Amino acid sequence: MAHLNSSLLLFLSLNLLQLFHTAVGRGGQRDSGFVDKSYAASGRHLFEENHFQKLNNLAHGYMSNSDLEKAIKAFHGRCGRISKIYSIGKSVFGVPLWAIEISNKPGKEEAKPAFKFIGNVHGDEPVGRELLLRLANWLCDNYMKDPLVTLIVNNVHLHILPSMNPDGYSLRRRGNANNVDLNRDFPDQFFQMNDDLTVRQPETKAIMNWIKKIRFTASASLHGGALVANYPWDGTQDKSKSYYACPDDEAFKYMAKLYSGSHYNMSQSQEFKAGITNGAYWYPIYGGMQDWNYIYGGCFELTLEISDNKWPPANELPTIWQYNKQSMLDLVASLVKSGVHGRVYSSDCGEPLPASIAIKGINYTIKASERLADYHRLLAPGHQYEVTATMPGYKTRSTTIKMGEEAMTLDFILEPTSSFLPRQPCKRSSMKILEVISTPHFQVALTLFSVLAFLCFLIKRKIIFSHLRGRKYLGRRSSAV
Ligand SMILES: *[C@@H]1O[C@H](CO)[C@@H](O)[C@H](O)[C@H]1NC(C)=O
Ligand SMILES: *[C@@H]1O[C@H](CO)[C@@H](O)[C@H](O)[C@H]1NC(C)=O
Ligand SMILES: [Zn+2]
Repeated sequence: MAHLNSSLLLFLSLNLLQLFHTAVGRGGQRDSGFVDKSYAASGRHLFEENHFQKLNNLAHGYMSNSDLEKAIKAFHGRCGRISKIYSIGKSVFGVPLWAIEISNKPGKEEAKPAFKFIGNVHGDEPVGRELLLRLANWLCDNYMKDPLVTLIVNNVHLHILPSMNPDGYSLRRRGNANNVDLNRDFPDQFFQMNDDLTVRQPETKAIMNWIKKIRFTASASLHGGALVANYPWDGTQDKSKSYYACPDDEAFKYMAKLYSGSHYNMSQSQEFKAGITNGAYWYPIYGGMQDWNYIYGGCFELTLEISDNKWPPANELPTIWQYNKQSMLDLVASLVKSGVHGRVYSSDCGEPLPASIAIKGINYTIKASERLADYHRLLAPGHQYEVTATMPGYKTRSTTIKMGEEAMTLDFILEPTSSFLPRQPCKRSSMKILEVISTPHFQVALTLFSVLAFLCFLIKRKIIFSHLRGRKYLGRRSSAV
C-alpha cells in the first residue's frame, strides 16, 4: 500500500512538473494572451541580455573589428605583390568596410573575370569574416605552389569583403547600427521597397556602388544558421513559398552543387536535397542582396549558409575552414574552368566592342566590358548553347557551342553594318590619319594612308592572335567567329 502511494505521488508530481514546464515555456512567447504583459516583456529583456552575454563570451577567439583591420593590413604587408586593400565605404558608426583584392595584377583592369566574397552581412554570423581572412592567407601562402591557387590568382580578380556589417558584429546582433537587416535593404524586383535613397543604409549603398565600379561575374555571401548553398530567386511575385526559377536556374544549380559537393558534408543534408536550395523554395525574402546582384549587377550570386551554429566557439573555426576551403576555391576557380569567355572586336580595325552577349532561350543578357570588351558567361555544362553578340552599328553574329566539362573561349569579330567607309576609324591611328589628310601633298598622304591601313590590319591580327595564344595554357577550346 505504501509502495503504491509513493508511486502515485511520483506519477502525479512528474505530471505536474511537466504541466508547469509547458506553462513556463509558453509564457515566454510573444502572444500568449493570459500572461501578464510586463512579465513577458521583462522576460524577453532578460533573454536578450543573456543572449548578448552569451555571444559576448563566444566572441573570445574571434577578431574584433580593430583586430580584423589589423589582420587585413598585416595580410597586405605580407602579400602586397598579389594584393591590394581598399575600403568600399563606411558603416553607420564610421568603421571602414575593408576589402582585399587578390590577383597577380591587383588593381589593374584586365580581360579577366572578377569574383567577390562578402562575409558578416548579419552581425551575429561572424564565421564568414574569419574564414575569408583564412582564405586570403591560404591563397597567399600557396601561390605558385598549389596549381588551383595559382590558377585563381593568375586568372581571376578576387575581391574579399570580410565584414559588411562591423557595427552589427560589435553589437552582437543581426542588423546594423540602425538595426536594419542589410539583406533586406536592397531594391526589390517585385515590390516597391528600399527605393528611397535617403533611408538606404550606408553599408548597402557601399555594396551598390562597388558593383557599379567593378564588373563581377559571380559572388557569394557567407551566412550562418544552416548548411546549404542558396541560389536565386530569393523572392516570388505572389509572396508564396515556392520554387521560383530565375532565367539561369541551370547555371545556378551547377554553381551551388559545386560548392556543396566540394564541402565536407553539405551535400549530405537531410533537409536540402544535394545541399542546395532555391531561395524562395526555402523561404521567400524581399530586398535581398543576391537577387539584386543578378538583376542589376550582371553578377551570379549565391548565399552560402556555412554553419548550423551561427556563432560557434572559436576553437571550431579551423575545422569549419577545412570543411569549406575546397568549396571556396572551386567556386572561384569555376570562373576560369567553366562557362564561355571571350572578347568582341570590330573587323575594321580590331577595336574592342562592348557588345551584348545573349544565349538563346535564356532571358538574361550580359555586356562585354567597355574598355577591353571581354565577357564571361557562366553556363551549366553538358548543353548546347547558341551565343549571340549584338552591337549597334554592327552585324549581329551567332554561333552554337557545345559546353563540355571545361570552359570555352569564343571571340567575336563583328562587321560594321555599312560597308562603304569604316564607320569608326581605327583609334590608334585616327589622329595620324587626320593629320595626313590635311597635308597638301595628297600623293604622300595616300601612300601613308595605305601604310597605316596595313599596319592597322597587322595590329588587329596581332591583338587577336596573341590574345588567343595567351589563353592556351588554360587548356580551353578556343575559337573566333
Ligand atoms: C556535418 O558534420 C558536422 C560535424 O561532424 C555535423 O555537426 C553536422 O551535423 C554534419 N551535417 C550534415 C548535413 O551531415
Ligand atoms: C525577360 O526579362 C525581362 C526582365 O528582365 C522581362 O521584363 C521580360 O518580360 C522577359 N521576357 C520574356 C520573354 O520572358
Ligand atoms: Zn545571415
